[in-house]
Amino acid sequence: MNTGTAILEAFYQAAGQFVRADDLGRQLNQPVTAVNTEIAELEKLGYTIEAHPHLGYRLLGTPNRLTADDIKARLKTKLIGSEILVFEETASTNDVVEHLAKSGAREGLVVFAESQTRGRGRRGRTWTSPRGKGLWFSVLLRPTLPPSAASRITVAASVAVARAIRQNCGVDARIKWPNDVTVNGKKLAGILTELRAEADEILLAILGIGVDVNCQREDFPSELESVATSVELEAESAQDRVALAAQVLAALDECYRTALTDFEAIADEWAKLSTTLGRHIVVTMGQRRIEGFAQALDSDGALLLRRDSGQIERILGGDVVVERA
Ligand code: BTN
Repeated sequence: MNTGTAILEAFYQAAGQFVRADDLGRQLNQPVTAVNTEIAELEKLGYTIEAHPHLGYRLLGTPNRLTADDIKARLKTKLIGSEILVFEETASTNDVVEHLAKSGAREGLVVFAESQTRGRGRRGRTWTSPRGKGLWFSVLLRPTLPPSAASRITVAASVAVARAIRQNCGVDARIKWPNDVTVNGKKLAGILTELRAEADEILLAILGIGVDVNCQREDFPSELESVATSVELEAESAQDRVALAAQVLAALDECYRTALTDFEAIADEWAKLSTTLGRHIVVTMGQRRIEGFAQALDSDGALLLRRDSGQIERILGGDVVVERA
């Protein structure tokens, strides 16, 4: 662990109390001068730190800036976040992860960007990623699953994002099949899972997640204004993006591992949060349009749709409109 992460971790453990510089030095196995230098670096990044001649340092405020050190300082995960990178700007974080995966990056790598110039959504759509307003990130996964069960990953991610927002932001986040996290029918997060697979195994999965955290109405393209929202708009207060990033990664770590070993547990939580299940829905997939009753998820994470004829269709992807309860 580097010095920045360790000092921030000590501050978070102290929960607003003073931490003595010599104690920090001992914990880090570094001289007090190195601690002082790192404190000055953190102040340059925008952290507000009070220094007291006898009591040491205490953290009073954090900047609205994602850093790998800060996310790591708040994270205790087994797999997700084994390496974290933060870029000021990228085309798409999914592309950065794909590139790093080709050079052998390990499962659990997470790449964030403060803004994306070519963020993409499902079905070739553009994903608007305004600077400093959201969480735009991608995770490298190497699941031992057949490609037919890839939907489990998207389902697990949607549960993780909804769970983290519900628990930490006081917002009633729900899930609309297949990958939208919504509040009061408006979307505040989306998930784009991209696969590299052979006939019977997934080689790697790139899980791209976009969460509109502190976006304002004017940040959304005009055509999305009536269907998009943000955590800040729903909670009526600006959110700490670093804290939420760590909470989403922690939930993802848990949900992903559970999805591989006990998918039923994830499917149960998904069912409780779903706005799709138990409804009569219309799914469009390109030119194809299928109507039916959204009955359940199967063990691969596909949606089972009961048509009026009684026939069951397995749905993977598509756009959903809820017709009636
Ligand atoms: C959707 O709802 O259509 C999926 C949106 C996924 C957006 C995220 S932002 C981080 C990652 N990089 C991208 O280019 N897309 C995903």
